[in-house]
Amino acid sequence: MTPNIAHFNGELLPLERIAISPLDRGFIFGDGVYEVIPVYGGAMLRGREHFERLQRSMDEIKLRNPHTVDEWMALTGKLLAHHPGNQSVYIQVTRGAPQKRDHVMPKDLAPTVFMMVQPLASPSKDAIENGVACITHEDFRWAKCHIKSTSLLGNILARQLSAEAGATETILLRDGHVTEASSSNVFVVKDGVVLAPPQDHLILLGITYDLVTKLAAEGAVRLEIRPVAEAELRSADEVWLTSSTKEVLAVTTLDGKPVGNGKPGPAFRRMHALYQEYKARLRESRPVAA
Ligand SMILES: Cc1ncc(COP(=O)(O)O)c(C=O)c1O
Repeated sequence: MTPNIAHFNGELLPLERIAISPLDRGFIFGDGVYEVIPVYGGAMLRGREHFERLQRSMDEIKLRNPHTVDEWMALTGKLLAHHPGNQSVYIQVTRGAPQKRDHVMPKDLAPTVFMMVQPLASPSKDAIENGVACITHEDFRWAKCHIKSTSLLGNILARQLSAEAGATETILLRDGHVTEASSSNVFVVKDGVVLAPPQDHLILLGITYDLVTKLAAEGAVRLEIRPVAEAELRSADEVWLTSSTKEVLAVTTLDGKPVGNGKPGPAFRRMHALYQEYKARLRESRPVAA
């Protein structure tokens, strides 16, 4: 079998040959940040934006970025040369492996850089055509959700609730307002207006969220970024999830009750079409990786 080539601290190696120190602060503390970039036919979708967000996450946790955005793009391109087709690139940078366990950030420690590629799991035809089920729960995570941290226990606990309920996502509510879901952003549509929760420290500013706001502006779709109350979620005509792998998905049941008429709505179908057109333009504009 051909080995799954991954990147580890500047080297391309078969994934199974990569060994990480048990003292690595990523393992010991979850002291690291990450990105997931979708790749269509060898072309990264908003690769630069992902690496710019990686930089913001690293700045927030005072972690030195070993690479510029251009260097990251080149390193990812080299890795992708081993993985043609539709893929998802996972990038993780941790604070490295010191000699001893100590909460205080060690000085001058080389970060650990790891990248791997997995086949992109795009939404099924059924999920696109019929929408997905979600449940809601109180947002019990920390107050720095804008950092794309590898410390994902809060998100994992939230996601498990929906997994156990047979649902696709857990939509989170904090102080009576929608924040996001365990691994997606949430949009609500009422009377033809798309509502997006504020881009603050209580959500991860998704690259897909950002793209959807841009596509809405280009496509003359009315979109407002403002706090979204729980009552607005529960009386919405449409609810959407967005993420790099989910793209845009309609939520058609919430806590077992239908959203709107229980089918993906017209605003969803329009945004889904705009998103697919954007992907098609990407394929035309970029060469396919060898
Ligand atoms: C908590 C959370 N919010 C939102 C998103 C969506 O972000 P993006 O569109 O950049 O994939 C993710 C993606 O994994 C996430 O984990």
